[in-house]
Amino acid sequence: MSNYETILVEQRDAVTLVTLNRPQALNALNSQVLAELIDAFAAYDREESQRCLVLTGSEKAFAAGADIKEMQSQGFADMYGSNFFAGWEQVTATRKPWIAAVNGFALGGGCEVAMMADFIIAGDKAKFGQPEIKLAVTPGMGGSQRLAHAVGKAKAMEMCLTGRMMGAEEAERAGLVVRVVPAEALVDEALKTAAEIAAMPPLAAIAAKEMVNAAFELPLGQGVRFERRLFHGLFGTDDQKEGMSAFVEKRPGNWTGK
Ligand code: CAA
Repeated sequence: MSNYETILVEQRDAVTLVTLNRPQALNALNSQVLAELIDAFAAYDREESQRCLVLTGSEKAFAAGADIKEMQSQGFADMYGSNFFAGWEQVTATRKPWIAAVNGFALGGGCEVAMMADFIIAGDKAKFGQPEIKLAVTPGMGGSQRLAHAVGKAKAMEMCLTGRMMGAEEAERAGLVVRVVPAEALVDEALKTAAEIAAMPPLAAIAAKEMVNAAFELPLGQGVRFERRLFHGLFGTDDQKEGMSAFVEKRPGNWTGK
């Protein structure tokens, strides 16, 4: 699949830029968006020339949530039977690094997708929230878990119980986003950071991502052992020899990804 209708995909050197593109619905995430994102992220993971990805939306909305009109008439049997939203696990299975660049509304599923990224860079007018409770439901794409990990119990609980939105500055203070930049500079800033990551040795980047993510799933001792084993494993790569030789010889490394 490559003629997408709800997303735009471009390659800028080693960085893939994916833009959510359903402006008439504030980028609400329906099944077609999910299918297209799964395809685009899998293609990115496979494509050797691509080393980092940026996912963004529009200046008004990163994404205003899962598509309420698509869910409105569904019953329990439909949702449980189709394991609705389980497809997002294919997006979180992406092995290479990716960044969410958030301008405007990141609500419900929009906030949840942003939190699936390795980190979020926000425009100064970004607004994050989990307003599902106002629809008599709850987060369903991991929001209650990832938000609690990111900002702690107090703010996560308040946001899920009241639907209150968090602005960009508060999101940075709370640890939800890595930094805030002027809205109009957001995509360029995210692409610049992505280019920096894309210039790193690719296997070390995948390993670093895997071990930081393990911190959210494993007890400390197991996490530290997992880290050490991956660290040991990197000594089997050509890039480790190149990286350490380049340091000693005072020159930049030249990575092969082997
Ligand atoms: N699903 C479907 N359509 C949506 C949508 C959504 N989540 N969010 C916005 N839209 C549509 C609106 O229905 C509207 O379409 P029409 O012109 O056809 O009526 C269009 O996008 C523009 O939206 P508004 O007119 O509402 O724009 P606004 O500027 O007045 O308000 C907003 C912006 C505050 C973000 C408002 O659109 C809003 O509250 N959206 C819903 C937010 C929400 O509840 N998200 C959670 C969804 S549930 C979920 O995500 C479950 C989960 O855990 C994954």
